[in-house]
Amino acid sequence: MKKVVGVFGSPRPDGNSDILLNHAIKGAETRGDVAVEKIVIRDLHIAPCNSCGGCFEKGACVIDDDMQILYSRFVDADVIIVASPIYFMGVSAQLKAVIDRCQAFWARKYILHLPIREDAGVARGFFIATAARSNGEELFTGAVKTITAFFHVLDTKYVGDLLCAGLEEKGFVYKKQEILQQAFDAGKQLLH
Ligand SMILES: Cc1cc2nc3c(=O)[nH]c(=O)nc-3n(C[C@H](O)[C@H](O)[C@H](O)COP(=O)(O)O)c2cc1C
Repeated sequence: MKKVVGVFGSPRPDGNSDILLNHAIKGAETRGDVAVEKIVIRDLHIAPCNSCGGCFEKGACVIDDDMQILYSRFVDADVIIVASPIYFMGVSAQLKAVIDRCQAFWARKYILHLPIREDAGVARGFFIATAARSNGEELFTGAVKTITAFFHVLDTKYVGDLLCAGLEEKGFVYKKQEILQQAFDAGKQLLH
């Protein structure tokens, strides 16, 4: 059974990144033996990293909140699909809080020299981003760099992304059949 984790970073339900993540998940589910879990960050209580250095001791975060559930989900996943709107040229604050809390993995790897997962580099990561501007240089650069670092700390290979410009109002992506299809196909290919 392959484990797929969808990490949904928008505070807006049924918005563009939500719709695309759902299509990617549907694509992944075309393979029968998958267990999919969609993590809706806005429904969780996740504090930002406070740089207390607590994780430097044991490689585990000392803040007791819903992030404690996500640590194991991330390292157990065969596939992680992250979806976020672009906010001020980066990922949403909700998603960034989750990523910053992965400093505990960083401490585990680079301070304590402990493994993150047994099968390092086998897990696959895919990123979906939506933005309102229809063009603009480096619209996705900041977010892609953040997600690259996130996948890297999780020993997860960044295998691809779907970076969609020109999507502003809620649900507008439903008018873009080709993008919906690309999300579905990406999800399918992640496991086939
Ligand atoms: C706080 C905030 C900041 C945003 N910043 C940008 C931005 O820097 N560039 C851009 O193109 N769109 C920006 N947008 C627009 C969203 O990225 C866009 O509407 C996106 O499709 C929303 O995705 P969602 O429907 O999944 O929430 C911003 C929207 C909000 C609410």
